[in-house]
Amino acid sequence: MSSLTSFSSTATLPIVPRGKFAVAAAIAKPTASNPSPPQPTTLLPLRKIPGDYGPPLLGPLRDRFAYFYTEGRDAYLRSRSNRHRSTVLRLNVPPGPPIAADPRVIALLDAASFPVLFDTDLVEKKDLFTGTFMPSVSLTGGYRTLSYLDPSEPNHAPLKKLLFHLLSSRHQHVIPEFRRTSAVMFDTLEAGISAKGSADFSAASDKAAFDFLCRSLLGTDPADTELGPDGPKIIMKWILFQLGPIMTLGLPNLVEDLLLHSVRLPPALVRKDYDRLAGFFRRAAGPVLDEAGRIGVSREEAVHNLVFSVCFNAFGGMNILLPSLVKWVGRAGARLHGRLAEEVRSVARSAGGGGLSMRSLESMPLVKSAVYECLRVEPPVPLQFGRAKRDFVLSSHDARYEVRAGELLFGYQPFATKDARVFGRAEEFVADRFVGEEGGRLLRHVVWSNGPETQAATVSNKQCAGKDFVVLVARMLLAELFLRYDSFDIEVGTSALGSSVKLTSLKRASF
Ligand code: HEM
Repeated sequence: MSSLTSFSSTATLPIVPRGKFAVAAAIAKPTASNPSPPQPTTLLPLRKIPGDYGPPLLGPLRDRFAYFYTEGRDAYLRSRSNRHRSTVLRLNVPPGPPIAADPRVIALLDAASFPVLFDTDLVEKKDLFTGTFMPSVSLTGGYRTLSYLDPSEPNHAPLKKLLFHLLSSRHQHVIPEFRRTSAVMFDTLEAGISAKGSADFSAASDKAAFDFLCRSLLGTDPADTELGPDGPKIIMKWILFQLGPIMTLGLPNLVEDLLLHSVRLPPALVRKDYDRLAGFFRRAAGPVLDEAGRIGVSREEAVHNLVFSVCFNAFGGMNILLPSLVKWVGRAGARLHGRLAEEVRSVARSAGGGGLSMRSLESMPLVKSAVYECLRVEPPVPLQFGRAKRDFVLSSHDARYEVRAGELLFGYQPFATKDARVFGRAEEFVADRFVGEEGGRLLRHVVWSNGPETQAATVSNKQCAGKDFVVLVARMLLAELFLRYDSFDIEVGTSALGSSVKLTSLKRASF
């Protein structure tokens, strides 16, 4: 889908004050289940993209400070959008020079313009996975891994096919291994709460996520190998070397900016760790590596792609998503917990054996909706980029804008998926938002996977290869949680990649 075919709406404006360009003027506020109807974009006025980049060097440096420190990411984007009265505008994004020579982008800050990033006819995704800079390929065995490839490149399709093969060939192991791993995780968390009054869910879920991924996808328990318990620690360090230029760690601002955002951390400092990780995959992933040979991917390229997909895409994504899910559901409180527990237990009981299966998870509308709502309200990967392949016109809710070939588009997903012209009570976590037919119609605006939730990942698009796997894992976490417990309490802090969540109580199932 491209924004050339996207919709306009009739509701109050979330970011753009009403004025000259608010042609689709406000007449009705959408409700949680009633998005505004589409209107033809050709009626919209053509507008020059507003915004500016400031003076060379000084502009990007000033903006980097505003983005990370003086304003913060959301306020940085919102204040500029408000100033220019537009959800499509020009601005700088970090890190800027010297790490990224050119920080200039066209920002897309609404649900109407954002989907242009999924249109691979209009935008190229080559080397844009991390934005305006690309980490050294020596961090990935010398290979540009799949996430950095545009679908037009010859290796994209075979590498994605290999991942589809991995996920489908191991699918019968996913639920049993998740149940096994999560049982151990919850036992440990309960023991932690009894001993100390609270237990770190984020740390426990990191360990559980890595064990689960290796057992379910590779059939190997890392504890039985040379890697031992070190996987999660190594991966987090390796991710820091890749994402440092766009991360904050809470160090004093100037120190952090010099250390992370002004220079690249030398890959040599993480090489030994990475080699251990790659060695583990080389030994554990035999059958997938054999399949790689059959579809024309070299064994070594397959090894480094598996490391990247399992450790960066999957582990990194789950490191953000699982605490986020527990945070939002935890904050929603005991009433929602009771409804979830009732749904999960009644489905599990009628399925027999108290067990969970693909089918029983499909019959839990509230669990499914709560997962989608979490992915909407806090998309785990918030930034997406694409470079215009040719000149074209894109549309926001209010205007059309000419984009030139070669310009870099930057979509900020949290503003797209919390666009009040699509979602009522857009900033709130509404657990049952996606229940029922009307709720289901909203799913096309849930785009955490770099594409609509109603669309499948294929070898010719850039949608997350693990889309269905991720949704399944998130549903399983909620189902396991509410099979075991009636309710729970949390404390929330921040971490380098997302939220840090502590459990302060877990109330055992009473019915
Ligand atoms: C919570 C977990 C996950 C999240 C939030 C997530 C999110 C994403 C996003 C946003 C993209 C698109 C990035 C872009 O191009 O801008 C992506 C791509 C990708 N993801 Fe995931 N992902 C997750 C888990 C997984 C898993 C489990 C796998 C496979 C085992 C996977 C494999 C991939 C691959 C291979 C791509 C690149 C697809 C392509 O080049 O066509 N991801 N993911």
